[in-house]
Amino acid sequence: MIQNNNYILGIESSCDDTAAAVIHNGQVLSNVVATQKIHEEYGGVVPELASRAHQQNIVPVVQLALRKANIDKKQLNAIAFTSGPGLMGSLLVGTSFSKSLALGLDIPLIDVNHMQAHILAHFIKTDEHTAPNFPFLALTISGGHTQIVKVSNYFEMEVIGQTIDDAVGEAFDKSAKVLGLPYPGGPLIDKFAQEGNPKAFKFPKPKVGPLDFSFSGLKTSVLYFVEKNVALNSEFISENMEDICASLQFTIIDYLMDKLKNAVKQTGINEIAIGGGVSANSGIRKALKEAEQKYGWITHIPKFEYCTDNAAMIAIVGELKYKQGIFADSNVVAKARLKL
Ligand code: KG4
Ligand code: ZN
Repeated sequence: MIQNNNYILGIESSCDDTAAAVIHNGQVLSNVVATQKIHEEYGGVVPELASRAHQQNIVPVVQLALRKANIDKKQLNAIAFTSGPGLMGSLLVGTSFSKSLALGLDIPLIDVNHMQAHILAHFIKTDEHTAPNFPFLALTISGGHTQIVKVSNYFEMEVIGQTIDDAVGEAFDKSAKVLGLPYPGGPLIDKFAQEGNPKAFKFPKPKVGPLDFSFSGLKTSVLYFVEKNVALNSEFISENMEDICASLQFTIIDYLMDKLKNAVKQTGINEIAIGGGVSANSGIRKALKEAEQKYGWITHIPKFEYCTDNAAMIAIVGELKYKQGIFADSNVVAKARLKL
């Protein structure tokens, strides 16, 4: 009999953040993330270095999560870990560690799909937010993902739109690189954008299916735009940084909103929940709040710490699966590619 008083440890290692969290009845007791700074000097995530850093960080991160939750590992009821999608070398560290710990403690092991976790992060209990009602649309936007998902129930999800090339976070980061900004450039574009004129320059919105996304063309058009103008004025970037960032951000957010409008029209669902690191963007937050007024949508924006890669979202999925008795086999393996 599964009791209703569970301590679930979540472990996330799919990309460049080593994270562990403890959840108790939907409440986060601890949420520890070690962000790997090493990748900054390379301008992007280096997979080999990521696996190595995970191996260095995983034990101290888990120990800190248990300490902050003020529990002993013997009190844990289950261990939930990210089995995919992600970088194979990174996933292997979290997967192997979780399997061994579950075996050692003789408790169930629960495999979690990282993309499902970004969506189900909305079910973490907080004072500021209420959970979405089913069915709702989830827009998952980060450095690795851009998807619109129809969520009918906790484990009943259908991807109805996605990027055919780069993720939206990559569009921010790669454009930022063209502007000479350090990695990850998304937050910096957002910062400059707030001081600039969004209508100063025009960038094209790529044309793909009504619910799909394409961002590789945008990065190329930013590159050509910058090269052309720098040839005429070598100080072009520094003199226009705010306006370039504001125009670029306006184009990206407008494009995301176009796709959401199409999805609302197609599904008849007007409850929207966003997730992923790009949900921190001030432009998307403002656009969603405006859509509540303008179109009567109901929108959900999670706390920032549950938007970016974190283990609390893995632990909440662990708890939901634990209650339903959905456990992993002992021969479960990490999968770099894993569908919803
Ligand atoms: O979810 P996340 O932490 O990691 C994954 O990629 O899975 O997302 C990181 C991405 C990066 O591309 C970063 O530039 C972007 O989120 N990001 C932002 C902002 N904050 C983070 N992009 C635009 N505006 C922001 N304020
Ligand atoms: Zn993610």
